[in-house]
Amino acid sequence: MKANTLAARAGLELELGLGTPINPAIHQSTVYAFPSLEDLERVFQGEAGYFYYRNGHPNATALETLLQQLEHGEAAAVASSGMAAISAVLLGNLRSGDHIIADQNAYGGTFALLTADLPRFGLEVSFVDVQDIHAVEAAFQANTKWLHLESMSNPTIRIADITQLSALAKTRGVTVCVDNTFASPALLNPLELGADVVVHSLAKYIGGHGAVMGGAVIGRSGIVQAARAALLRFGGTMAAFDSWLALLGAKTLSLRMRQHSQNGFAIAQFLEAHPKITRVDYPGLASHAQHDLAQAILKNGFGAMMSFEVQGGLPAASNFVKTINHAIPLAPSLADVSSTLSYPAGTSHRALTPEARAKIGVTDGLLRLSVGIEDSADLLEELAVALNAI
Ligand SMILES: Cc1ncc(COP(=O)(O)O)c(C=O)c1O
Repeated sequence: MKANTLAARAGLELELGLGTPINPAIHQSTVYAFPSLEDLERVFQGEAGYFYYRNGHPNATALETLLQQLEHGEAAAVASSGMAAISAVLLGNLRSGDHIIADQNAYGGTFALLTADLPRFGLEVSFVDVQDIHAVEAAFQANTKWLHLESMSNPTIRIADITQLSALAKTRGVTVCVDNTFASPALLNPLELGADVVVHSLAKYIGGHGAVMGGAVIGRSGIVQAARAALLRFGGTMAAFDSWLALLGAKTLSLRMRQHSQNGFAIAQFLEAHPKITRVDYPGLASHAQHDLAQAILKNGFGAMMSFEVQGGLPAASNFVKTINHAIPLAPSLADVSSTLSYPAGTSHRALTPEARAKIGVTDGLLRLSVGIEDSADLLEELAVALNAI
């Protein structure tokens, strides 16, 4: 079956009885009861079944099945947040003395984990510009075990050349992990391009409606099983209700992504042509540094994440936010059905010095826009009014 069919029917109870619910039940139960010691033993021996919430529940299983199918992985494990998924895949698969190469533009939470926590457990981390293949090549060491990439980076929406980087890593026996949160499996499947494992924050496009907290690890069985074991021991289980909501969200992922991408493209073109805008970072524009790569690897559109620089720095950005706030609010997350704005210099990148920010394009006038699925005519009008008011 195609992804749309799998998603639309995910979690459907196929054993029909009289009046079977069309949506799965929410299994809000801490523990499960057994008729005998022998039956409990069978579950411990690995037969399908549940015994304790932290170890798994039917809502997590239904979501894992769909995510594994959407990302074309061998296995999937869901987690209580994107950060729980990322920390579990790293802690479950690496040991003291191992070296990680990570994208220097990685999400702030990932950057903090890699700099503040993993070194305390004897893991070594190097950050590189993954757009510079020679820099990546030069960063490999004898003890390098892991390459952490983001398919689309925040906030300047750089695209990682997953095929090229995976080929490079493979010759050195290095595992490639791709955070595919910004693209979603509707636009890109990193495992098909050579990555070994994918991670997601399910709070973004997969959940899709600004209501879920969750994460996922999808990929090779051994890597996912090691992440799952870490999740159980560290206690990062995804809640049943969040799993249920994320499954409901995932059913419309590809439809939403189509509209997100259409709107994103129209708005990026409008912003690029506007006299008060000095720069737009959007992979669908010919001016984007990785436009050709984006065209080659993104299916079904260029997504809806972009950043743009208003002329006039912080005062202009502040003025713009105040004018548009009633329609497109300042909200430091992304990928909701309604459009939101964020200010990278004051949120995700606030820990960097102004010089370090400028080096990666995070200037004082830069705003990140997560384009929703509203009617694009309304969005264009709202943006025009706010830009004219600067
Ligand atoms: C690209 C990316 N990866 C991971 C995360 C972390 O996910 P969570 O907030 O669900 O822990 C985020 C959160 O914004 C993100 O943007």
